[in-house]
Amino acid sequence: MCKMKSLLLVLTSLFILVYVTGMTEKQMWAAVKLARNTCQNKHKASTADIYKMHQGDWNVDHSAMCYMHCALNMYKLMYPNNTFNLEASMKQTPQLPDSFRQSAETCIFNCKDEAKTLDDKCVAAYELTKCMYFCNPEKYFLP
Ligand SMILES: *[C@@H]1O[C@H](CO)[C@@H](O)[C@H](O)[C@H]1NC(C)=O
Repeated sequence: MCKMKSLLLVLTSLFILVYVTGMTEKQMWAAVKLARNTCQNKHKASTADIYKMHQGDWNVDHSAMCYMHCALNMYKLMYPNNTFNLEASMKQTPQLPDSFRQSAETCIFNCKDEAKTLDDKCVAAYELTKCMYFCNPEKYFLP
């Protein structure tokens, strides 16, 4: 009981820390890694394709596009009609580390309307995330 209470206290403090002051870069990359593992397992995107996207080569399989949809969906960043959920994304940018926040906000505004192939959620997510990458490759933080 006492153990549970202290665990709860630790978790609550962590939650407050992340939400009020934002994540550290280390915390952010840990979250990115978690999303990568989850979404790669789910969609069988190849490690080669995931690597390619991070190098600026977005000529990838459909499974890699579904991987990107999974990543966005994990943070509820897409509406059921496969457009970008700007509101949800703006609620989450304050949690980003200082060094990523400004670029993320700028790129989100640049890319928010890039989902064009709305009858395929994977392609729509790919269009959005590809734009996010090329908006600022140095500050790309998607999995
Ligand atoms: C998609 O859904 C959102 C939220 O319901 C809405 O604001 C937006 O206009 C819709 N876009 C299209 C293209 O249907």
